[in-house]
Amino acid sequence: MNDQVEKHLRAYGKSKNLASRKGLYAYTTGPAIIELMIRFLKPFIGMSVLDAGCGYGDNLIELVKRFTPTRAVGFDQSEGQIADARKSAEEAGLPINFLVDDVETFDLSETFDRILVSHVLHVPENREKALETILKHLAPGGVALFLLHSDLNLQKRAAWNTWLLETYGIKKSTRWEDFTVESSRELFASLPYAVHETLVDDSVELTAPEPYTEYLESTRHRCEPAPTDEQWQAYLNHARDEMEDEIEKNGSFVDPTMYGFVTVTK
Ligand SMILES: C[S@@+](CC[C@H](N)C(=O)[O-])C[C@H]1O[C@@H](n2cnc3c(N)ncnc32)[C@H](O)[C@@H]1O
Repeated sequence: MNDQVEKHLRAYGKSKNLASRKGLYAYTTGPAIIELMIRFLKPFIGMSVLDAGCGYGDNLIELVKRFTPTRAVGFDQSEGQIADARKSAEEAGLPINFLVDDVETFDLSETFDRILVSHVLHVPENREKALETILKHLAPGGVALFLLHSDLNLQKRAAWNTWLLETYGIKKSTRWEDFTVESSRELFASLPYAVHETLVDDSVELTAPEPYTEYLESTRHRCEPAPTDEQWQAYLNHARDEMEDEIEKNGSFVDPTMYGFVTVTK
């Protein structure tokens, strides 16, 4: 188990609650993502900023380092992740208020110039309510940035999941599959604000299958019914074989990773 996965399990306490791409998908979260966030969020020196569903707070910490906001708040429903976020901010000497709260019901009695909602809107039960609550906290003239997955995302993983279903009758769910940038359009179109959407390719080339197989190993809890050890190993081997074939043929393995960057300007 790599350090990122261990950190994640510690924060969540139990593997069935694993939810953050950041901890597990370390190999897809290079510096590129934060640069893109900055491009779309348009932060400025002295802004007030909120990170809703901030996880470990890495994105907010980076924004605070670069843009010295007058006020920075991050919240997440995961106590473990917020504890880690507080520790990171303290170690870096950054004045960030990290809170445990729920994206559907939080009420901070203040508004923010910039709000970041990175890979969160697919999770709440009631997305309309979460969106409404978030935008209630956006100051007039402010920008909220939503990062979303895409239907075009992770085609290889989808094919491996189909293989698992067809070979063993085991369904492996993906948390975001029913809410992507494509399916979110109706929800965003209902807002009385300016909405802008861009699809960004953040695919990463792998020259060895390990980072991906390590990630796949941690997703066993998403299978229904639970696979036997033998079935699970066959699934991992199948994925590894395909990656190795592609690496041998093309020198690298690429799984399309697309993100939707949706901005809402009030
Ligand atoms: C995929 S992670 C994204 C974390 C972080 N924003 C990032 O980009 O790295 C999704 C996060 O949403 C949080 N979350 C899920 N449901 C939530 C809710 N109802 N209220 C607040 N946070 C929630 C999870 O605890 C998790 O940290």
